[in-house]
Amino acid sequence: EKDGYDWFMRKEIFEQPGAVAATLLDRLNEQGRIKLDESTISPGDLREINKVIIIACGTANYAGLVAKYAIEHWTRISCEVELASEFRYRDPIVDSRTLVVAISQSGETMDTLMAIRHAREQGARVLAICNTNGSTIPRESDAVIYTHAGPEIGVASTKGFLTQVVACYLLGLYLAQERGTLFGDEIANVLEDLRATPDAIAKVLNDLGAVMKLASDLVDVPSVLFLGRHAGYPVALEGALKLKELAYIHAEGFAAGELKHGPIALIEQDLPVFVVVPPKGRDQLHDKVISNVQEIRARGARTIVLAEEGDTEVIGYADTLITLPKVSTLLQPLVATVPLQVFACELATLKGHDVDQPRNLAKSVTVE
Ligand code: F6R
Repeated sequence: EKDGYDWFMRKEIFEQPGAVAATLLDRLNEQGRIKLDESTISPGDLREINKVIIIACGTANYAGLVAKYAIEHWTRISCEVELASEFRYRDPIVDSRTLVVAISQSGETMDTLMAIRHAREQGARVLAICNTNGSTIPRESDAVIYTHAGPEIGVASTKGFLTQVVACYLLGLYLAQERGTLFGDEIANVLEDLRATPDAIAKVLNDLGAVMKLASDLVDVPSVLFLGRHAGYPVALEGALKLKELAYIHAEGFAAGELKHGPIALIEQDLPVFVVVPPKGRDQLHDKVISNVQEIRARGARTIVLAEEGDTEVIGYADTLITLPKVSTLLQPLVATVPLQVFACELATLKGHDVDQPRNLAKSVTVE
């Protein structure tokens, strides 16, 4: 069943191009408009929505953090992302104009389930993004978008994460379509870019030499940092989580812009720091993150830079360069996360850990 792979996780990492493609399949109705898999939310109610709150745990929460950038940009509705375990204990402001989006691979995570029950009691509409047909969270929701990742067996979520990001983007485009905040051709352009991502992910998977070498070089390091900005920030958080849970190495993800507000004090000789560099765009983010790379390298950090191909400005400051295919800023998480998954999987393997069953963890957390 592992198809010749040593771990389910590795198999699932390599299934990602297909999982993303499957999640994008059959999303338009006869009129060429985006549809949801299931929905009892009326078009009128949908137009009344004035706030989106994404609720999820762990990696699914990071998918939500990625989605926030796209949903706010496309729909102009404010979007909060909250840890499910925190949500109902803070007396959240939720009413019938709030769309609560629960993201869960398993559909059984108790923290997430209790949060949506609370949201519904307050009158919110609940939409589930889920990989498991017929599981509890979609059954208790008003609308559902299923991810089509196929069964995820490895405890660490990989294809679950990428397909959650894709499903959130479909939701963002759907809301923009229903509310008229994007034109039809703008939606079509994003869909076309999304349909090109499976090939881009496959390209990353065909070029893992630098990551594999890095894992063997860094097998004994005590700590690793990850930096990212904008949609690359949750990628940094996800890279750190994968390393913690699989390799049992201390790891932290930071927003690159926060470096000077504290974390730069952690930088010391030979500390490995992954930096996700945004594509060169209209804003200054690309150049600002490159300045961060320079700053930490000047203080002795070992810089491991993920940047798009053709980005020559960064080469001089990268001890290791991991090149990513050219994609838009919002889609970069779909390619940039993959080398970080592979790095954690490989490093844990070299350490002799059980990658599919990390210590103290369960695939589906059905207690609060
Ligand atoms: C990390 C991981 C967990 C899950 C989290 C939510 O690799 O797998 O952080 O993402 O427990 O699980 P679901 O998506 O099933 O609700």
